[in-house]
Amino acid sequence: MKPTNSPKTYRVKSFGCQMNVYDGERMAEMLGERGIVPAPEGEDADLVVLNTCHIREKAAEKVYSDIGRLTKGKTQDKAPMIAVAGCVAQAEGEEIMARAPAVSMVVGPQAYHRLPEMLDRAVQGERATDTDMPAIAKFAALPERKRTNPASFLTVQEGCDKFCTYCVVPYTRGAEISRPYGDLVTEARKLVDAGAKEITLLGQNVSAWSGEDDKGHAVGLAGLIRDLAKVDGLARIRYTTSHPADMDDDLIAAHGEIDKLMPFLHLPVQAGSDRVLKAMNRSHTAESYLRLLERFRAARQDLALSGDFIVGFPGETDAEFEETLKLVDAVGYAQAFSFKYSPRPGTPAASMEGQVAKEVMDERLQRLQAALNRDQWAFNRATEGRTCEVLVERKGKHPGQWLGKTPWLQSAWFEGDVGIGDLVQVELVEAGPNSLAGRLRERVAA
Ligand code: 5AD
Ligand code: SF4
Repeated sequence: MKPTNSPKTYRVKSFGCQMNVYDGERMAEMLGERGIVPAPEGEDADLVVLNTCHIREKAAEKVYSDIGRLTKGKTQDKAPMIAVAGCVAQAEGEEIMARAPAVSMVVGPQAYHRLPEMLDRAVQGERATDTDMPAIAKFAALPERKRTNPASFLTVQEGCDKFCTYCVVPYTRGAEISRPYGDLVTEARKLVDAGAKEITLLGQNVSAWSGEDDKGHAVGLAGLIRDLAKVDGLARIRYTTSHPADMDDDLIAAHGEIDKLMPFLHLPVQAGSDRVLKAMNRSHTAESYLRLLERFRAARQDLALSGDFIVGFPGETDAEFEETLKLVDAVGYAQAFSFKYSPRPGTPAASMEGQVAKEVMDERLQRLQAALNRDQWAFNRATEGRTCEVLVERKGKHPGQWLGKTPWLQSAWFEGDVGIGDLVQVELVEAGPNSLAGRLRERVAA
Protein backbone atom coordinates (compact mmCIF):
# COMPACT_ATOMS: atom_id res chain seq x y z
CA MET A 1 0.00 0.00 0.00
CA LYS A 2 1.09 3.58 -0.67
CA PRO A 3 1.62 6.05 2.19
CA THR A 4 -1.42 8.23 2.58
CA ASN A 5 -2.65 11.33 4.40
CA SER A 6 -3.69 10.99 8.02
CA PRO A 7 -7.46 10.58 8.22
CA LYS A 8 -9.37 13.60 9.51
CA THR A 9 -12.77 12.00 9.98
CA TYR A 10 -13.87 8.57 11.15
CA ARG A 11 -16.95 6.39 11.39
CA VAL A 12 -17.21 3.36 13.69
CA LYS A 13 -19.86 0.85 12.62
CA SER A 14 -20.60 -1.57 15.45
CA PHE A 15 -22.54 -4.78 14.93
CA GLY A 16 -23.77 -7.31 17.47
CA CYS A 17 -23.87 -7.08 21.23
CA GLN A 18 -23.59 -4.24 23.73
CA MET A 19 -19.98 -5.19 24.42
CA ASN A 20 -19.23 -4.27 20.84
CA VAL A 21 -21.07 -0.99 21.31
CA TYR A 22 -18.83 -0.31 24.33
CA ASP A 23 -15.68 -1.25 22.38
CA GLY A 24 -16.85 0.96 19.50
CA GLU A 25 -17.25 3.93 21.85
CA ARG A 26 -13.79 3.37 23.29
CA MET A 27 -12.23 3.18 19.81
CA ALA A 28 -14.03 6.41 18.89
CA GLU A 29 -12.62 8.06 22.02
CA MET A 30 -9.09 7.03 21.04
CA LEU A 31 -9.50 8.41 17.54
CA GLY A 32 -10.92 11.59 19.08
CA GLU A 33 -7.75 11.94 21.20
CA ARG A 34 -5.80 11.95 17.94
CA GLY A 35 -7.83 14.89 16.69
CA ILE A 36 -9.86 12.77 14.27
CA VAL A 37 -13.53 13.78 14.35
CA PRO A 38 -16.72 11.83 13.57
CA ALA A 39 -17.70 12.17 9.90
CA PRO A 40 -20.82 14.34 9.54
CA GLU A 41 -24.06 12.40 8.93
CA GLY A 42 -24.39 11.46 5.26
CA GLU A 43 -20.74 12.20 4.41
CA ASP A 44 -17.97 9.71 3.65
CA ALA A 45 -15.42 9.20 6.42
CA ASP A 46 -11.64 9.07 5.82
CA LEU A 47 -11.38 6.11 8.19
CA VAL A 48 -14.05 3.45 8.67
CA VAL A 49 -13.86 0.96 11.53
CA LEU A 50 -16.05 -2.11 10.95
CA ASN A 51 -16.55 -3.44 14.47
CA THR A 52 -17.82 -6.91 13.63
CA CYS A 53 -19.79 -9.65 15.35
CA HIS A 54 -19.25 -13.35 14.74
CA ILE A 55 -21.96 -14.90 16.86
CA ARG A 56 -24.51 -15.77 14.19
CA GLU A 57 -25.33 -15.69 10.48
CA LYS A 58 -22.92 -14.99 7.71
CA ALA A 59 -20.91 -12.42 9.61
CA ALA A 60 -17.74 -12.70 7.57
CA GLU A 61 -19.57 -12.34 4.24
CA LYS A 62 -21.18 -9.19 5.57
CA VAL A 63 -17.75 -7.74 6.28
CA TYR A 64 -16.61 -8.41 2.72
CA SER A 65 -19.74 -6.86 1.24
CA ASP A 66 -19.31 -3.79 3.47
CA ILE A 67 -15.70 -3.48 2.31
CA GLY A 68 -16.89 -3.83 -1.30
CA ARG A 69 -19.45 -1.07 -0.80
CA LEU A 70 -16.87 1.27 0.77
CA THR A 71 -14.33 0.85 -2.02
CA LYS A 72 -16.55 0.34 -5.08
CA GLY A 73 -15.37 2.40 -8.05
CA LYS A 74 -12.82 4.29 -5.91
CA THR A 75 -9.07 4.52 -6.42
CA GLN A 76 -6.88 3.98 -3.37
CA ASP A 77 -6.50 7.71 -2.67
CA LYS A 78 -10.30 8.22 -2.80
CA ALA A 79 -11.35 5.13 -0.84
CA PRO A 80 -11.50 5.35 2.96
CA MET A 81 -8.91 3.69 5.12
CA ILE A 82 -10.56 0.55 6.54
CA ALA A 83 -9.99 -1.16 9.89
CA VAL A 84 -11.76 -4.41 10.71
CA ALA A 85 -12.26 -4.87 14.45
CA GLY A 86 -14.40 -7.12 16.65
CA CYS A 87 -14.93 -10.86 16.72
CA VAL A 88 -14.69 -11.54 12.96
CA ALA A 89 -11.32 -9.81 13.02
CA GLN A 90 -10.26 -12.12 15.85
CA ALA A 91 -11.52 -15.28 14.17
CA GLU A 92 -10.58 -14.57 10.57
CA GLY A 93 -7.98 -11.82 10.68
CA GLU A 94 -5.42 -13.41 8.39
CA GLU A 95 -8.00 -14.43 5.86
CA ILE A 96 -9.40 -10.90 5.76
CA MET A 97 -5.93 -9.48 5.12
CA ALA A 98 -5.40 -11.98 2.30
CA ARG A 99 -8.80 -11.55 0.68
CA ALA A 100 -9.36 -7.82 1.08
CA PRO A 101 -6.38 -5.70 0.05
CA ALA A 102 -8.41 -2.55 0.82
CA VAL A 103 -8.22 -3.34 4.53
CA SER A 104 -5.22 -1.75 6.22
CA MET A 105 -5.83 -2.79 9.83
CA VAL A 106 -7.24 -5.89 11.49
CA VAL A 107 -7.58 -5.57 15.23
CA GLY A 108 -9.10 -8.05 17.69
CA PRO A 109 -11.38 -7.16 20.63
CA GLN A 110 -8.53 -7.50 23.15
CA ALA A 111 -6.01 -5.46 21.19
CA TYR A 112 -7.86 -2.35 20.05
CA HIS A 113 -5.96 -0.12 22.47
CA ARG A 114 -3.17 -0.38 19.88
CA LEU A 115 -5.34 1.11 17.15
CA PRO A 116 -3.56 4.53 17.22
CA GLU A 117 -0.14 2.86 16.66
CA MET A 118 -1.57 0.76 13.87
CA LEU A 119 -3.01 3.88 12.34
CA ASP A 120 0.44 5.49 12.26
CA ARG A 121 1.75 2.46 10.43
CA ALA A 122 -1.21 2.43 8.06
CA VAL A 123 -0.53 6.06 7.13
CA GLN A 124 3.01 4.95 6.18
CA GLY A 125 1.42 2.37 3.87
CA GLU A 126 1.97 -0.60 6.16
CA ARG A 127 -0.82 -3.12 6.79
CA ALA A 128 -1.10 -4.42 10.33
CA THR A 129 -2.88 -7.24 12.16
CA ASP A 130 -3.12 -7.49 15.94
CA THR A 131 -5.22 -10.25 17.44
CA ASP A 132 -3.35 -10.72 20.71
CA MET A 133 -5.45 -11.36 23.80
CA PRO A 134 -3.95 -9.34 26.69
CA ALA A 135 -7.36 -8.12 27.83
CA ILE A 136 -6.40 -6.20 30.97
CA ALA A 137 -3.61 -4.27 29.24
CA LYS A 138 -6.21 -2.91 26.87
CA PHE A 139 -8.26 -1.18 29.56
CA ALA A 140 -5.22 0.40 31.19
CA ALA A 141 -4.15 1.86 27.85
CA LEU A 142 -7.50 3.44 26.94
CA PRO A 143 -8.08 7.17 27.41
CA GLU A 144 -10.24 8.53 30.26
CA ARG A 145 -14.01 8.69 29.81
CA LYS A 146 -15.02 12.27 29.15
CA ARG A 147 -18.29 12.08 27.30
CA THR A 148 -21.13 9.65 27.59
CA ASN A 149 -24.87 8.98 27.30
CA PRO A 150 -27.27 9.10 30.28
CA ALA A 151 -27.52 5.32 29.94
CA SER A 152 -23.92 4.11 29.66
CA PHE A 153 -22.13 0.80 29.39
CA LEU A 154 -19.20 -0.35 31.48
CA THR A 155 -17.40 -3.56 30.55
CA VAL A 156 -16.50 -5.33 33.80
CA GLN A 157 -15.75 -8.81 32.53
CA GLU A 158 -14.79 -10.36 29.23
CA GLY A 159 -14.53 -13.81 27.77
CA CYS A 160 -16.22 -17.07 28.58
CA ASP A 161 -15.13 -20.43 29.99
CA LYS A 162 -18.49 -22.13 29.62
CA PHE A 163 -18.04 -23.55 26.12
CA CYS A 164 -21.65 -23.99 25.12
CA THR A 165 -21.29 -26.19 22.07
CA TYR A 166 -22.89 -23.72 19.62
CA CYS A 167 -20.97 -20.66 20.72
CA VAL A 168 -17.93 -18.99 19.23
CA VAL A 169 -17.36 -16.55 22.11
CA PRO A 170 -14.83 -18.63 24.08
CA TYR A 171 -12.70 -18.68 20.91
CA THR A 172 -13.07 -15.03 19.88
CA ARG A 173 -13.09 -13.31 23.27
CA GLY A 174 -10.93 -15.82 25.09
CA ALA A 175 -10.98 -16.99 28.70
CA GLU A 176 -12.99 -15.25 31.43
CA ILE A 177 -11.23 -12.27 32.92
CA SER A 178 -12.53 -9.73 35.44
CA ARG A 179 -11.42 -6.11 35.42
CA PRO A 180 -10.11 -4.98 38.83
CA TYR A 181 -12.59 -3.51 41.31
CA GLY A 182 -10.72 -0.22 41.73
CA ASP A 183 -10.60 0.44 37.98
CA LEU A 184 -14.33 -0.15 37.71
CA VAL A 185 -15.26 2.15 40.57
CA THR A 186 -13.03 4.84 39.04
CA GLU A 187 -14.49 4.41 35.57
CA ALA A 188 -18.04 4.45 36.96
CA ARG A 189 -17.30 7.75 38.76
CA LYS A 190 -15.88 9.22 35.55
CA LEU A 191 -18.97 8.13 33.64
CA VAL A 192 -21.22 9.79 36.22
CA ASP A 193 -19.12 12.98 36.10
CA ALA A 194 -19.55 12.86 32.32
CA GLY A 195 -23.34 12.70 32.66
CA ALA A 196 -24.27 9.04 33.08
CA LYS A 197 -27.34 8.39 35.27
CA GLU A 198 -27.54 4.71 34.52
CA ILE A 199 -24.72 2.21 34.09
CA THR A 200 -25.12 -1.26 32.63
CA LEU A 201 -22.32 -3.55 33.72
CA LEU A 202 -21.34 -5.66 30.75
CA GLY A 203 -19.70 -9.03 30.37
CA GLN A 204 -20.15 -12.11 28.22
CA ASN A 205 -20.56 -13.81 31.57
CA VAL A 206 -21.02 -10.85 33.83
CA SER A 207 -22.18 -12.93 36.79
CA ALA A 208 -18.74 -14.61 36.81
CA TRP A 209 -17.11 -11.30 37.72
CA SER A 210 -14.95 -11.51 40.83
CA GLY A 211 -12.47 -9.22 42.47
CA GLU A 212 -11.07 -7.74 45.66
CA ASP A 213 -12.57 -4.60 47.13
CA ASP A 214 -10.53 -1.72 48.56
CA LYS A 215 -10.30 -3.51 51.92
CA GLY A 216 -8.86 -6.59 50.28
CA HIS A 217 -12.07 -8.66 50.65
CA ALA A 218 -13.08 -11.03 47.88
CA VAL A 219 -16.26 -9.76 46.21
CA GLY A 220 -18.55 -11.01 43.48
CA LEU A 221 -20.84 -9.09 41.16
CA ALA A 222 -23.32 -8.36 43.98
CA GLY A 223 -20.54 -6.76 46.06
CA LEU A 224 -19.49 -4.62 43.13
CA ILE A 225 -23.08 -3.51 42.53
CA ARG A 226 -23.47 -2.66 46.23
CA ASP A 227 -20.42 -0.41 46.13
CA LEU A 228 -21.31 1.20 42.83
CA ALA A 229 -24.72 2.01 44.30
CA LYS A 230 -22.87 4.33 46.71
CA VAL A 231 -21.62 6.50 43.83
CA ASP A 232 -23.43 9.84 44.15
CA GLY A 233 -25.33 10.87 41.07
CA LEU A 234 -25.64 7.32 39.77
CA ALA A 235 -29.35 6.50 39.82
CA ARG A 236 -29.62 3.14 38.10
CA ILE A 237 -27.57 -0.01 37.74
CA ARG A 238 -28.18 -2.93 35.38
CA TYR A 239 -26.03 -5.89 34.33
CA THR A 240 -25.94 -8.26 31.42
CA THR A 241 -25.44 -11.08 30.34
CA SER A 242 -25.59 -13.73 33.04
CA HIS A 243 -25.30 -17.49 33.04
CA PRO A 244 -27.64 -19.52 35.28
CA ALA A 245 -24.65 -21.41 36.72
CA ASP A 246 -23.10 -18.29 38.29
CA MET A 247 -26.13 -16.72 39.95
CA ASP A 248 -25.42 -16.82 43.67
CA ASP A 249 -27.52 -16.02 46.77
CA ASP A 250 -25.82 -12.69 47.19
CA LEU A 251 -26.83 -11.52 43.71
CA ILE A 252 -30.40 -12.71 44.26
CA ALA A 253 -30.53 -10.87 47.58
CA ALA A 254 -29.08 -7.73 45.95
CA HIS A 255 -32.21 -7.48 43.81
CA GLY A 256 -34.30 -7.14 46.95
CA GLU A 257 -31.94 -4.81 48.79
CA ILE A 258 -30.46 -2.28 46.37
CA ASP A 259 -32.95 0.29 45.12
CA LYS A 260 -30.62 1.44 42.36
CA LEU A 261 -30.44 -2.08 40.92
CA MET A 262 -33.24 -2.07 38.36
CA PRO A 263 -35.92 -4.79 38.48
CA PHE A 264 -34.78 -6.51 35.32
CA LEU A 265 -32.93 -9.76 34.68
CA HIS A 266 -31.63 -11.03 31.37
CA LEU A 267 -30.95 -14.71 31.89
CA PRO A 268 -30.57 -16.78 28.72
CA VAL A 269 -32.05 -20.27 28.82
CA GLN A 270 -31.61 -21.22 25.12
CA ALA A 271 -34.05 -24.18 25.08
CA GLY A 272 -36.70 -25.96 27.11
CA SER A 273 -35.65 -29.56 26.49
CA ASP A 274 -33.19 -31.10 28.93
CA ARG A 275 -31.72 -33.31 26.22
CA VAL A 276 -31.03 -30.30 24.01
CA LEU A 277 -29.66 -28.30 26.96
CA LYS A 278 -27.26 -31.13 27.71
CA ALA A 279 -26.14 -31.34 24.08
CA MET A 280 -25.59 -27.57 24.23
CA ASN A 281 -23.39 -28.10 27.31
CA ARG A 282 -25.57 -25.77 29.34
CA SER A 283 -25.24 -26.71 32.98
CA HIS A 284 -28.92 -26.21 33.85
CA THR A 285 -32.16 -28.04 33.18
CA ALA A 286 -35.50 -26.40 32.39
CA GLU A 287 -36.59 -27.15 35.96
CA SER A 288 -33.47 -25.77 37.66
CA TYR A 289 -33.77 -22.61 35.53
CA LEU A 290 -37.41 -22.12 36.57
CA ARG A 291 -36.53 -22.67 40.23
CA LEU A 292 -33.76 -20.09 39.97
CA LEU A 293 -36.18 -17.54 38.51
CA GLU A 294 -38.58 -18.21 41.36
CA ARG A 295 -35.85 -17.28 43.84
CA PHE A 296 -35.19 -14.03 42.00
CA ARG A 297 -38.88 -13.23 41.91
CA ALA A 298 -39.19 -13.91 45.62
CA ALA A 299 -36.44 -11.30 46.21
CA ARG A 300 -37.97 -8.73 43.86
CA GLN A 301 -41.58 -9.29 42.98
CA ASP A 302 -41.85 -6.89 40.06
CA LEU A 303 -38.75 -8.31 38.33
CA ALA A 304 -39.03 -8.22 34.54
CA LEU A 305 -37.45 -11.23 32.86
CA SER A 306 -35.62 -11.52 29.59
CA GLY A 307 -33.94 -14.45 27.88
CA ASP A 308 -32.17 -15.76 24.79
CA PHE A 309 -33.39 -18.72 22.75
CA ILE A 310 -31.98 -20.83 19.96
CA VAL A 311 -34.33 -22.88 17.77
CA GLY A 312 -33.19 -25.75 15.58
CA PHE A 313 -30.11 -26.81 17.53
CA PRO A 314 -28.79 -30.00 15.83
CA GLY A 315 -31.08 -32.92 16.62
CA GLU A 316 -33.92 -30.82 18.08
CA THR A 317 -37.19 -32.67 17.44
CA ASP A 318 -40.68 -31.18 17.19
CA ALA A 319 -41.49 -32.50 20.66
CA GLU A 320 -38.31 -30.95 22.10
CA PHE A 321 -39.16 -27.62 20.53
CA GLU A 322 -42.62 -27.82 22.15
CA GLU A 323 -40.81 -27.94 25.49
CA THR A 324 -39.27 -24.55 24.70
CA LEU A 325 -42.79 -23.14 24.15
CA LYS A 326 -43.88 -24.70 27.42
CA LEU A 327 -41.04 -23.02 29.27
CA VAL A 328 -41.91 -19.68 27.66
CA ASP A 329 -45.49 -20.06 28.89
CA ALA A 330 -44.27 -20.87 32.38
CA VAL A 331 -41.98 -17.81 32.63
CA GLY A 332 -43.94 -15.01 30.96
CA TYR A 333 -40.96 -13.01 29.66
CA ALA A 334 -41.12 -9.21 29.51
CA GLN A 335 -38.89 -9.39 26.44
CA ALA A 336 -36.54 -11.89 24.82
CA PHE A 337 -34.19 -12.55 21.93
CA SER A 338 -34.58 -15.61 19.75
CA PHE A 339 -32.41 -16.95 16.98
CA LYS A 340 -32.18 -19.74 14.46
CA TYR A 341 -29.23 -21.99 15.18
CA SER A 342 -26.28 -21.02 13.02
CA PRO A 343 -23.29 -23.36 12.77
CA ARG A 344 -20.13 -21.52 13.85
CA PRO A 345 -16.90 -22.86 12.35
CA GLY A 346 -14.77 -24.66 14.92
CA THR A 347 -17.54 -25.18 17.50
CA PRO A 348 -18.59 -28.74 18.45
CA ALA A 349 -22.23 -28.33 17.39
CA ALA A 350 -21.25 -27.36 13.84
CA SER A 351 -20.23 -30.96 13.16
CA MET A 352 -23.06 -32.65 15.10
CA GLU A 353 -25.45 -34.92 13.28
CA GLY A 354 -29.06 -33.93 12.72
CA GLN A 355 -28.63 -30.37 11.44
CA VAL A 356 -32.18 -29.02 11.21
CA ALA A 357 -33.64 -27.92 7.85
CA LYS A 358 -33.99 -24.18 7.29
CA GLU A 359 -37.77 -24.37 6.72
CA VAL A 360 -38.23 -26.20 10.02
CA MET A 361 -36.15 -23.56 11.82
CA ASP A 362 -38.14 -20.77 10.15
CA GLU A 363 -41.41 -22.23 11.32
CA ARG A 364 -40.17 -22.83 14.87
CA LEU A 365 -38.77 -19.33 15.13
CA GLN A 366 -42.07 -17.85 13.96
CA ARG A 367 -44.02 -19.80 16.55
CA LEU A 368 -41.58 -18.94 19.32
CA GLN A 369 -41.55 -15.26 18.44
CA ALA A 370 -45.35 -15.15 18.33
CA ALA A 371 -45.41 -16.51 21.90
CA LEU A 372 -42.69 -14.12 23.07
CA ASN A 373 -44.39 -11.11 21.45
CA ARG A 374 -47.67 -12.07 23.05
CA ASP A 375 -46.00 -12.17 26.47
CA GLN A 376 -44.12 -8.91 25.92
CA TRP A 377 -47.34 -7.10 25.08
CA ALA A 378 -49.05 -8.68 28.08
CA PHE A 379 -46.21 -7.51 30.31
CA ASN A 380 -46.52 -3.98 28.91
CA ARG A 381 -50.27 -4.02 29.47
CA ALA A 382 -49.78 -5.13 33.05
CA THR A 383 -47.81 -1.93 33.72
CA GLU A 384 -50.54 0.33 32.27
CA GLY A 385 -51.79 2.80 34.85
CA ARG A 386 -48.58 2.73 36.87
CA THR A 387 -46.53 5.85 37.45
CA CYS A 388 -42.83 5.11 37.36
CA GLU A 389 -39.45 6.73 36.91
CA VAL A 390 -38.26 7.15 33.33
CA LEU A 391 -34.73 8.09 32.29
CA VAL A 392 -34.97 10.40 29.27
CA GLU A 393 -32.55 9.12 26.63
CA ARG A 394 -33.49 10.93 23.42
CA LYS A 395 -35.96 13.01 21.49
CA GLY A 396 -38.96 11.24 19.97
CA LYS A 397 -40.11 11.41 16.36
CA HIS A 398 -42.43 14.40 16.87
CA PRO A 399 -41.52 17.82 18.25
CA GLY A 400 -41.86 17.97 22.03
CA GLN A 401 -41.81 14.18 22.30
CA TRP A 402 -39.25 12.29 24.38
CA LEU A 403 -38.20 8.68 24.70
CA GLY A 404 -36.86 6.98 27.77
CA LYS A 405 -36.68 3.70 29.64
CA THR A 406 -38.79 2.52 32.54
CA PRO A 407 -37.16 0.54 35.36
CA TRP A 408 -38.31 -2.62 33.53
CA LEU A 409 -36.40 -1.55 30.40
CA GLN A 410 -39.53 -0.77 28.42
CA SER A 411 -39.39 2.15 26.00
CA ALA A 412 -41.81 4.88 27.05
CA TRP A 413 -42.58 8.04 25.09
CA PHE A 414 -44.29 11.16 26.31
CA GLU A 415 -44.48 14.92 25.80
CA GLY A 416 -43.28 17.64 28.12
CA ASP A 417 -40.66 20.14 29.10
CA VAL A 418 -37.75 17.82 29.91
CA GLY A 419 -34.21 17.21 28.65
CA ILE A 420 -31.98 14.26 27.86
CA GLY A 421 -30.63 12.74 31.08
CA ASP A 422 -33.58 13.85 33.23
CA LEU A 423 -35.22 11.34 35.54
CA VAL A 424 -38.94 11.99 35.47
CA GLN A 425 -42.12 10.43 36.82
CA VAL A 426 -44.31 9.19 33.99
CA GLU A 427 -47.73 7.60 34.11
CA LEU A 428 -47.86 4.69 31.68
CA VAL A 429 -51.09 5.30 29.82
CA GLU A 430 -51.27 2.95 26.87
CA ALA A 431 -49.26 -0.18 26.14
CA GLY A 432 -48.20 -1.21 22.65
CA PRO A 433 -46.33 -4.37 21.71
CA ASN A 434 -42.91 -2.66 21.84
CA SER A 435 -43.38 0.53 23.83
CA LEU A 436 -45.75 2.51 26.02
CA ALA A 437 -47.30 5.92 25.68
CA GLY A 438 -46.97 7.92 28.88
CA ARG A 439 -47.98 11.17 30.53
CA LEU A 440 -45.39 13.30 32.31
CA ARG A 441 -46.12 13.65 36.02
CA GLU A 442 -43.08 15.35 37.50
CA ARG A 443 -39.33 15.58 37.44
CA VAL A 444 -37.36 13.85 40.15
CA ALA A 445 -33.96 14.99 41.30
CA ALA A 446 -31.13 12.74 40.18
N1 5AD B 1 -26.54 -19.82 16.61
C1 5AD B 1 -27.63 -19.12 17.01
N2 5AD B 1 -27.66 -18.35 18.11
C2 5AD B 1 -26.52 -18.26 18.83
N3 5AD B 1 -26.24 -17.58 19.95
C3 5AD B 1 -24.95 -17.82 20.27
N4 5AD B 1 -24.40 -18.63 19.38
C4 5AD B 1 -25.35 -18.94 18.47
C5 5AD B 1 -25.38 -19.75 17.31
N5 5AD B 1 -24.32 -20.44 16.91
C6 5AD B 1 -27.22 -16.79 20.67
C7 5AD B 1 -27.47 -17.33 22.08
C8 5AD B 1 -26.74 -16.34 22.95
C9 5AD B 1 -26.92 -15.07 22.16
C10 5AD B 1 -25.97 -13.98 22.52
O1 5AD B 1 -26.74 -15.47 20.83
O2 5AD B 1 -28.86 -17.31 22.32
O3 5AD B 1 -27.29 -16.27 24.25
FE1 SF4 C 1 -21.43 -18.49 24.53
FE2 SF4 C 1 -22.42 -20.11 26.40
FE3 SF4 C 1 -20.36 -18.45 26.97
FE4 SF4 C 1 -22.82 -17.44 26.55
S1 SF4 C 1 -22.23 -18.81 28.22
S2 SF4 C 1 -20.87 -16.68 25.71
S3 SF4 C 1 -23.63 -18.79 25.01
S4 SF4 C 1 -20.31 -20.17 25.54
